[in-house]
Amino acid sequence: MLITEGKTKRILASATPQEVLLETKDDLTGGDAAKRETIAGIAVHKTAQARHVFELLNRRGIPTAYLGAESPVRLRCAACTMLPLELVTRRYAWGSYLKRDPALAGSKPHRFAELKTEFFHKHACVVPPLVPKPVQMDEGKARELYLKGGVWADGVYTDPFIRIEKGRWYLHSAKVPVDPARTLMETPALLNPEETEFLIRRIMIPVFEALEQAWAKVETAGGRVALVDLKIECGRRQRDGKLVVADVVDNDSWRIWPGADPARQLDKQLFRDGHALSEVAEKYELVARLTESFARS
Ligand SMILES: Nc1ncnc2c1ncn2[C@@H]1O[C@H](COP(=O)(O)OP(=O)(O)OP(=O)(O)O)[C@@H](O)[C@H]1O
Ligand SMILES: [Mg+2]
Repeated sequence: MLITEGKTKRILASATPQEVLLETKDDLTGGDAAKRETIAGIAVHKTAQARHVFELLNRRGIPTAYLGAESPVRLRCAACTMLPLELVTRRYAWGSYLKRDPALAGSKPHRFAELKTEFFHKHACVVPPLVPKPVQMDEGKARELYLKGGVWADGVYTDPFIRIEKGRWYLHSAKVPVDPARTLMETPALLNPEETEFLIRRIMIPVFEALEQAWAKVETAGGRVALVDLKIECGRRQRDGKLVVADVVDNDSWRIWPGADPARQLDKQLFRDGHALSEVAEKYELVARLTESFARS
């Protein structure tokens, strides 16, 4: 039975209570889902990648929703109440980060000695004069109302950056440097300060470090693979309320660069940048194969 269907997955009810099946679709999306393609066979590669990642994280004792594989395109996971957050950890300053910190832009990516962690809200923020006062809404709803011919109306902020100060959460444009004097709106804190610390110290950083170390052992024609950045999603496990890594981590979730060279990227950025779908499919298959080594990592 279908519980919900998203852009890249279906969530199905499992025969076991408090478990769900995550079924991957043969779809890739990019640019706020403005770009969307079906690539036959890619679901199998993405599922294999997610399985390899989750098996490594579970072995490291990091709390995740993953319970096992059900089929080549289905994972068995603990049912979670998802947090509408994108949790991003970075080793290098790249992509949208450079809009918030343009001083770090350059031909050679800046490497953070200490990992950078950032929270983004999955609900878009809409501000006057589009609405009487700033509000948040589901991105799908915002798209219906304010995305015309592939262009967002002025005053819509998708995936806003969250600035946390003394336990209070404030939304900011993710596309300009964060200035506390230019808060879009305050948003209810989804985590208390202890949970926020737990998420950063016990989940985000350990997940990144485990994957960074595993990738660093992978030799490719272009050199060892650098994990540049990573987005994860977390939820509260319905069974016990515990915060866990949920949804999936696959080749859509990170930037991976053999030899730390952006020109050799193997991840979904290839798709966003408009490379041939056959090349994208080939890279996804390669990443599924390379992540097999995570079992020995
Ligand atoms: N373990 C889980 N328990 C419950 N729901 C889950 C779990 N893992 C993922 N989900 C949810 O399944 C839905 C479908 O996933 P999908 O990634 O396709 O959605 P989406 O359209 O990309 O939207 P989103 O931006 O929320 O990811 C998402 O809302 C996701 O949060
Ligand atoms: Mg998703």
